[in-house]
Amino acid sequence: MTQYAPLQNDTFLRACMRQATPYTPLWLMRQAGRYLPEYCATRARAGSFMGLATNTDYATEVTLQPLERYPLDAAILFSDILTVPDAMGLGLSFAQGEGPRFATAVRDEAAVDKLEVPDMEKLRYVFDAVTSIRKALNGRVPLIGFSGSPWTLACYMVEGKGSDDYRLVKSMLYSRPDLMHRILAINADAVATYLNAQIDAGAQAVMIFDSWGGVLADGAFQDFSLEYTRRVLAQLKRTGVDGQIVPRLVFTKGGGLWLKEMAPLDCEVLGLDWTVNLGNARALVGGSENGPGKALQGNIDPNVLFAPPAQIAKEVGRVLDSFGAPYQGSGTGPTHIFNLGHGISQYTPPENVAALVEAVHSHSKAQRA
Ligand code: CP3
Repeated sequence: MTQYAPLQNDTFLRACMRQATPYTPLWLMRQAGRYLPEYCATRARAGSFMGLATNTDYATEVTLQPLERYPLDAAILFSDILTVPDAMGLGLSFAQGEGPRFATAVRDEAAVDKLEVPDMEKLRYVFDAVTSIRKALNGRVPLIGFSGSPWTLACYMVEGKGSDDYRLVKSMLYSRPDLMHRILAINADAVATYLNAQIDAGAQAVMIFDSWGGVLADGAFQDFSLEYTRRVLAQLKRTGVDGQIVPRLVFTKGGGLWLKEMAPLDCEVLGLDWTVNLGNARALVGGSENGPGKALQGNIDPNVLFAPPAQIAKEVGRVLDSFGAPYQGSGTGPTHIFNLGHGISQYTPPENVAALVEAVHSHSKAQRA
């Protein structure tokens, strides 16, 4: 076992395990990003997004930047979901002002034949960053590791970049489901190996981003997304380097209609976007005192951050109140981790994030009084 400093703020991990906390913990998807001028400055020094992500010191520096500004309750590894297909040899690049792009897309059987679970040595820079960030955090808050879901990775691998209509990946899904299943099986095993290596490097929780699960038709979601998320979860390590349980979080953007089908997933937390009412989700999957259930994470609309601080506080109150007072006993019960319903926009004023964090902590303390 590796020795790290003892954890000073365990509210996030406790809430993941459906245990009581004195306030509702929060972190923000994409909390280290372009809305922070200090991130842009480090990115400029690194020269490119991949320059940032592949350099241990830079990756550590930008992971800690949002924590220097705001009292957030968790850190998330600075990296990207597309590092895995990059390690499969697809050639990832991020042009300034553009989204991600692969040099090679996976469009036919010959390309699928070449795919395999990548050698994890190619992703050594990610695991080194995890260990370096764990040391730099010095027990301040827990570190979340992450990966894309098999389906979400497949979207980028087949399209070769982001897409508005998912035409190419859905063409393959409907015309050659056999090829799509082969890609997803390889992705699932790659993602599981990748997340286990992050856990071995020091990650204290792991999150699977199924960002494009919600673009699938009912039926297709279950067969091509959920089934392979399940395959990842079945392979994950349960304890980390400190001997502690490593909670697993699954976020399907647009997945609110399938909550009941996600309830049996072997994970601790379900992430929700802003279309879902947290009270309804709690009733469906949140469980009861000392019974099984999922902790819920989310789900304020990131665009709320463009309103003035008083409006932000009001919307924060609505989200916290829609969940209701979380479990406060000494066993387990329904709990909530506050987050955005999707990643923070690069145009967000940083001072508005301070207002949001303050409102979550103060309103959620008042909820428990
Ligand atoms: O949350 C964090 O602070 C940790 C870092 C993180 C990044 N990407 C950094 C990043 C995480 C968790 C991700 C996940 C990710 N990446 C997802 C899943 C979450 C989601 O948003 O749905 C997806 C779909 C990607 C793929 C990706 N990476 C896209 C579509 C883009 C371009 C979008 C944009 O905002 O330009 C990226 C680039 C990226 N990844 C940036 C950051 C901070 C911005 C790029 C830059 O600095 O040039």
